Amino acid sequence: MLPFLFLLLSFSFIDPTTSKSTIEPCSNSDTCSSLLGYSLYTDLKVSEVASLFQTDPISLLTTNAIDISYPDVENHILPAKLFLKVPVTCSCVDGIFKSAFVHYKTRPSDTLSLIADIIYGGLVSADQIKEGNPNAVGPDPSVLNVGTNLWIPLPCTCFNGTDNNLPAIYMSYVVRAVDTLAGIAARYSTTLTDLMNVNALGGPSIKEGDILSIPLSACTSSFPRSASDYGLSVANGSYSITASHCVQCSCGPGGRNLYCMPASLAVSCSSMQCKNSNLMLGNVTIQQTGGGCNVTSCNYGGLVNGTIITTLSTSLQPRCPGPQQFPPLVAPPTSLGPDLMFAPAPSPSESGGAPMYRPHTSIVPASGSIIAFPPSGGPSGSTSSACSLNPFVSLLMAVFLCLFMKYAIALPL
Ligand SMILES: *[C@@H]1O[C@H](CO)[C@@H](O)[C@H](O)[C@H]1NC(C)=O
Ligand SMILES: *[C@@H]1O[C@H](CO)[C@@H](O)[C@H](O)[C@H]1NC(C)=O
Ligand SMILES: *[C@@H]1O[C@H](CO)[C@@H](O)[C@H](O)[C@H]1NC(C)=O
Ligand SMILES: *[C@@H]1O[C@H](CO)[C@@H](O)[C@H](O)[C@H]1NC(C)=O
Ligand SMILES: *[C@@H]1O[C@H](CO)[C@@H](O)[C@H](O)[C@H]1NC(C)=O
Repeated sequence: MLPFLFLLLSFSFIDPTTSKSTIEPCSNSDTCSSLLGYSLYTDLKVSEVASLFQTDPISLLTTNAIDISYPDVENHILPAKLFLKVPVTCSCVDGIFKSAFVHYKTRPSDTLSLIADIIYGGLVSADQIKEGNPNAVGPDPSVLNVGTNLWIPLPCTCFNGTDNNLPAIYMSYVVRAVDTLAGIAARYSTTLTDLMNVNALGGPSIKEGDILSIPLSACTSSFPRSASDYGLSVANGSYSITASHCVQCSCGPGGRNLYCMPASLAVSCSSMQCKNSNLMLGNVTIQQTGGGCNVTSCNYGGLVNGTIITTLSTSLQPRCPGPQQFPPLVAPPTSLGPDLMFAPAPSPSESGGAPMYRPHTSIVPASGSIIAFPPSGGPSGSTSSACSLNPFVSLLMAVFLCLFMKYAIALPL
């Protein structure tokens, strides 16, 4: 009974809005490509969105399967509320994966909460920006000097680039009031169970403001380490420009193989013909034989020392593959059509057996977050219960309360 009393007494110190965020512990030099789910807070140029996240405007467009062949596409104005996947490099910072390179230069009348909640759409909290910039933010966080360069520690995960042993790229996603976990799973071609495992959730309930890691199936390359685009990985339904804008590689919609071909941009590129053949990068010939289908393709092998590597491969397959497809591209959006506006993810009428719950096995407090390591086997997701606390409450108490509240909710009071 004592803990209950303690909880009730302490309740007045706690803001009832607690949000969770999935974090992944890491060791030092790890990095990966990751995505952020982001809705524009206002109309913004492509280049302005890219500079908010210090990413390349062309990768921002290709990640979202937007056609880059439109004139002056970087100055195209995207409409407010448009939902975009923003590519960011995910790095290991103080033992947790975060965006290491995203910075924001403060403008007149910016406040930390405006930057966190509006400009970065809830992907970060005002407290996290404050903690990440102890010298830039003074004792009164409502007063920011104009032009201050703030590091924005955005959440991201790598999980070894795999999900259930298949290639994946992870997207950090801020839950909206209309979302259900099943709806998110359906929208991103994954399952409820998988989302619960990745995010170490004990059940399917999620709250507005929670930050989930969503695995998107991906196509990976096997370029040599010496390639400047080593490790290239492209999410299902999108494409990527590589090799100094000479090659474009896509993933999906039909398969999980990276498909590369010459990019249609007007640049001078070295030869992209496979040696000892008349095939160009991306060409595939199929030949029905008695033993099956003889498939010969000219594939991209990475940019090594400024040279586009092409490799000819021949394989005998049981059935002839269909033609290689590039994912459908969309024109740069100018207004929110029904398919571009962020569609709510309602609960689909889904049965498919009881979801498998995986309880947390161990809990280690670290720098104000609770990191739970789920059992080995699934991807090692972990959840940080970021209880918003009154500064009077100590960290230890915070950890205890967050923990206790989790279990208290399940008990009949
Ligand atoms: C990471 O993935 C690679 C294959 O992509 C695999 O060989 C390796 O064992 C994985 N490492 C861990 C720690 O799961
Ligand atoms: C890739 O995306 C398409 C369209 O969104 C979807 O139908 C397909 O199932 C996805 N493939 C994988 C392997 O997730
Ligand atoms: C080979 O690839 C080039 C460049 O993509 C294309 O123009 C050509 O039509 C392809 N040829 C065949 C036989 O597929
Ligand atoms: C498959 O096709 C390639 C080139 O067209 C040829 O060199 C090879 O001998 C063929 N293999 C078989 C088993 O037919
Ligand atoms: C790259 O090219 C330079 C000169 O062209 C050469 O010295 C160097 O050894 C090359 N490196 C590799 C990895 O091939």
